[in-house]
Amino acid sequence: MEMLQQGADTLDAVIAGVNIVELDPNDTSVGYGGLPNEDGVPELDSCVTHGPTRRCGAVGAIRGIKTPSKIAKLVMDHTTHVMIVGEGATRFAKAYGYKEEDLLTEKSRLAWLVWKQSLRSPSAFNNWISMDQNLTAENVPLKRLKEAFPDVDENTLAWAWDKAIHPTYGTINCLSLNEKGEMSGVTTTSGLAWKIPGRVGDSPIIGAGLFLDQDVGGAGSTGVGEENIRIAGGHTVVENMRHGMHPKDAVMDALKRVSRNYNDDKSKLAKLDIQFYALRKDGEHAAGSLWSGAKTPVQYSVNDGGDSRHEPCVFLYRRG
Ligand code: GLY
Repeated sequence: MEMLQQGADTLDAVIAGVNIVELDPNDTSVGYGGLPNEDGVPELDSCVTHGPTRRCGAVGAIRGIKTPSKIAKLVMDHTTHVMIVGEGATRFAKAYGYKEEDLLTEKSRLAWLVWKQSLRSPSAFNNWISMDQNLTAENVPLKRLKEAFPDVDENTLAWAWDKAIHPTYGTINCLSLNEKGEMSGVTTTSGLAWKIPGRVGDSPIIGAGLFLDQDVGGAGSTGVGEENIRIAGGHTVVENMRHGMHPKDAVMDALKRVSRNYNDDKSKLAKLDIQFYALRKDGEHAAGSLWSGAKTPVQYSVNDGGDSRHEPCVFLYRRG
């Protein structure tokens, strides 16, 4: 917001915003320190859209580069392509002077090792069955974990176990609008923890993890990327707004489409979570979550020139 107030480009501002989290080793869902794939290697996804010039760029499953959002912008600025993935994306970043680094922190390495331990348990998360059959709860086998990791405190082990059996899809979608009405957006993530190497979620897919049309507005998503890809959620939300829906109705319609893919079966949907975010060209905004929070509403962050604040998401189903 400081950059926007100083007249910076809307895309540079949102990328600078998400870079803070991408570079934070303590955040395990995005960039450096993001939870790794099955092999213990973080693979990052990101895409960007610049509204005024109607251009976009993306990288998928990029390894060794802390700020995938910046590389997505390089793809947009310097190539005829929209998306570069895998080894090619890392080589492309290195060509522009980015250093290849080990993105696995001690914290994310511990979580990965605990996930390996969890595979002994019948309720372990694995990538080879459908998501709605996954994610069963189990108490932390603290005694076993303490034997395996004697130097790690109980809170950290409990955190790592929770991540092992409920792998996260933590992601940031950030949308901007300046006083001239120009808009941009970025989505960035380390994707699903413990994923099969090479798995790409919704975050780098233009039309799913992000879609923006300078004439209408922008939308993005966090949560189970596969569910978003199945409904092209970012595009769906923007098209809903194009046809006159308020952002709240636009995100609710996208959530209903996700639900419809499970015949609205709440027992299956309970294992999933997904959110959509929408910012209309006139500044109206909303976010929607498939499920309400257990105690407090799921929230999204807003800054419209003053103090930053959280606002509640609308939701389709209530937990509990
Ligand atoms: N939404 C992030 C992912 O599924 O990878």
